[in-house]
Amino acid sequence: MKKILSVLLAVTMLLAGAVAAAETDTLTMATNAAFPPYEYYDDETGEIVGIDAEIAQAICDKLGYGLEIVNVDFDSIVPGVQSGKYTFGMAGMTVTEDRLESVDFSDSYATGIQVVIVPEDSAITSVDDLFAEGADHKVGVQQGTTGDIYASSDIEEAGLGSIERFKTGTDAVLALTSGKIDCVIIDNEPAKNFVAANEGLKILETEYAVEDYAICFSKDAPDLTARFNEALQELTEDGTVAAIIEKYIPSEE
Ligand code: ARG
Repeated sequence: MKKILSVLLAVTMLLAGAVAAAETDTLTMATNAAFPPYEYYDDETGEIVGIDAEIAQAICDKLGYGLEIVNVDFDSIVPGVQSGKYTFGMAGMTVTEDRLESVDFSDSYATGIQVVIVPEDSAITSVDDLFAEGADHKVGVQQGTTGDIYASSDIEEAGLGSIERFKTGTDAVLALTSGKIDCVIIDNEPAKNFVAANEGLKILETEYAVEDYAICFSKDAPDLTARFNEALQELTEDGTVAAIIEKYIPSEE
């Protein structure tokens, strides 16, 4: 009897150890950290911060995982998640039909709007000017983003201008401020940040496209995706997600 008990005890301790080890597993999140307020480097700490980083941390805390965030090119996130190099991708990433062929997405946690940044004195006054007959603008986008995908078909393939593709939104905006391109198509919240940080730029009032942001996972990880969705739902219901968003995008009073 004693022997059975001690074997049971040993097995229990082994199991507990395995659970503890599993709980402290660290998940790797791939992002592209030049996209404030969703992800960017904090100048003081040198860490990647932002809405995505904080929501991911809250989810991992709830599920008992550690979190490591890596900064990669935006267009390598989906292939990296698909191949299992990264556990998940979170980067203000829009759910698209194309991406759904390679990865699974969580429930959506935010809305994004594609907008157009122009110099304050630009002749481009509405999004429609970009598609007008005879238009010939140099349009900047971040490579592999939905802005790139839309502009490639609506503008480049339509013969209405040329597209310059940059590694980051920051680089695209830099090219705009130095007059190398005529406008930048990018998500609205980063656009607001870039316009606030650079003189002489504005955002056109007309919107180009409205999209849903979600977290992407390998198609081989449906359980993890489901657990993230559950955690996300709880964090939405208890106000955590709203508080994180409010911290980075204070609602105007
Ligand atoms: N929402 C756009 C897309 O999914 C742009 C996202 C860019 N994100 C980033 N972290 N740079 O294509």
